[in-house]
Amino acid sequence: MALELKDRRLTANDIRARKGGEPIVALTSYHAHTAAIIDRHVDFILVGDTLGMVMHGLETTLPVTLDMMILQGLAVIRGSKRALVVVDLPFGSYEESPQAAFRSAARVMKETGCGAVKLEGGARMADTIHFLSERGVPVMGHIGLTPQAVNTIGGFRVQGRNDAAQAAIKADAQAVAEAGAFAMVIEAVVEPLAREITAEVAIPTIGIGASPACDGQILVLEDMLGLSPQVPKFVKSYGTLANHIDAAVSAYTRDVRSRAFPGDANIYKPKS
Ligand code: KIV
Repeated sequence: MALELKDRRLTANDIRARKGGEPIVALTSYHAHTAAIIDRHVDFILVGDTLGMVMHGLETTLPVTLDMMILQGLAVIRGSKRALVVVDLPFGSYEESPQAAFRSAARVMKETGCGAVKLEGGARMADTIHFLSERGVPVMGHIGLTPQAVNTIGGFRVQGRNDAAQAAIKADAQAVAEAGAFAMVIEAVVEPLAREITAEVAIPTIGIGASPACDGQILVLEDMLGLSPQVPKFVKSYGTLANHIDAAVSAYTRDVRSRAFPGDANIYKPKS
């Protein structure tokens, strides 16, 4: 059994089965090279629509298209062998109807080879989650702060600040779980909301700025590596890559400007 697991990619069912067990480790990736590095450590890789903000310098995720998600999803599949790859459905590609969502999810799965999709929204997306899961599309839910709704929720703010908001988020969690999602991301909610939801729902909860009590955690890779210009307050820093890149590029610049650059054409000289 252990051998089998080592040799194949994890599936949505494997993640689902981890409810209440060993904590699930997840990170985002948008590229083959970072996917290859994180693959042996994480249980799933999310090709998040944060790629719009992280890779493209956009202010929100709203302009991200299905084609962008497919291109980067394919890169992550190429770079990884073991982790489940989950690809975000971007804003505008699924909200209109379960049928529209199925068309988008089917494109993503056929054209990337990923094992699941993620979509944002709680009770309002329950019919869609059910429709997709019944038709062979493993769905990860995403509740709490849903960045694609930034214009209606009034900013990237912590959610669940009063009793009514907490009750609504709990209802969202139940609706997503009952609709057939295999796991759900809970983003930026006050404690102890995510802890309580984790105890109540039958599927794994994956926290991001939610609670250490969640069944797993996810971070945006560039945020935890110190490579994003703006990092949410809850992110623990595990690296200072921007400083490393700056120092390396500065050393390279010095070499080039002082003609000490050793990138040497002598390797092409005919041997005498
Ligand atoms: O798009 C994304 O990267 C996400 C994570 C922040 C969970 O949804």
